[in-house]
Amino acid sequence: MEDWDGFLAPYQQTVAELKMKLKGIRTQYKLEGKHSPIEFVTGRVKPIESIIDKASKKHIEDTRFAEEVTDIAGCRVMCQFVEDIGIVVDHLRKRNDFRIIEERDYISNKKPSGYRSYHVVLEYPVQTINGEKKVIAEIQIRTLAMNFWATIEHSLSYKYSDEFPIEIKERLQRASEAAFQLDEEMSHIRDEIHEAQLYIKKQQRQHIKDRKHVNKR
Ligand code: GTP
Ligand code: MG
Repeated sequence: MEDWDGFLAPYQQTVAELKMKLKGIRTQYKLEGKHSPIEFVTGRVKPIESIIDKASKKHIEDTRFAEEVTDIAGCRVMCQFVEDIGIVVDHLRKRNDFRIIEERDYISNKKPSGYRSYHVVLEYPVQTINGEKKVIAEIQIRTLAMNFWATIEHSLSYKYSDEFPIEIKERLQRASEAAFQLDEEMSHIRDEIHEAQLYIKKQQRQHIKDRKHVNKR
């Protein structure tokens, strides 16, 4: 690759725009006083070293980076609850400012490592001074618990250069199970909070009705 800066510029722009748009979804939920399915958003352009590493592992020629290294532009959406992930994915499917190319559901089918996350690969059109350019980007959608696990596992995989001792591997799988249980537990708590809120609303309405009745007499 001769001109890395030129090659990466549309990816920088894609990440900045996608991040802003995803944060916009959160802002709109907040504005309506509703629970936002998006807790926070991060984004990054893959470091040159990692692009080269990945390409050489997968035998990808540098003329094919744009088509075959699909996570050069990457965003992550963190959610409080597993149920929020589907809501975010639905929002992405309905938008008309990009086209979804692929969805990978590592939540219904977690990876052997214990990794869970929902991946959406999309084709995002960026407007440049030389016309429109279609950029491939990846959005990973996950709960805070899934993110906690993936972040720790990722930093450990650096330390052990992807070859975990069996004991660490098993520990990570148990930790992944614990993260799953935490997500389950939070979903139950959320359902109960929701029910309690409905009950309080119902009581308030009844109280208003009763007072109207008293005032009439
Ligand atoms: P790479 O895994 O990126 O080489 O490409 P792939 O075609 O196998 O795609 P996949 O959907 O498996 O993974 C894409 C991205 O998901 C990775 O770059 C990571 O960010 C994340 N990911 C996938 N598997 C794991 C995992 O076991 N642990 C962690 N921490 N992250 C993972
Ligand atoms: Mg992989």
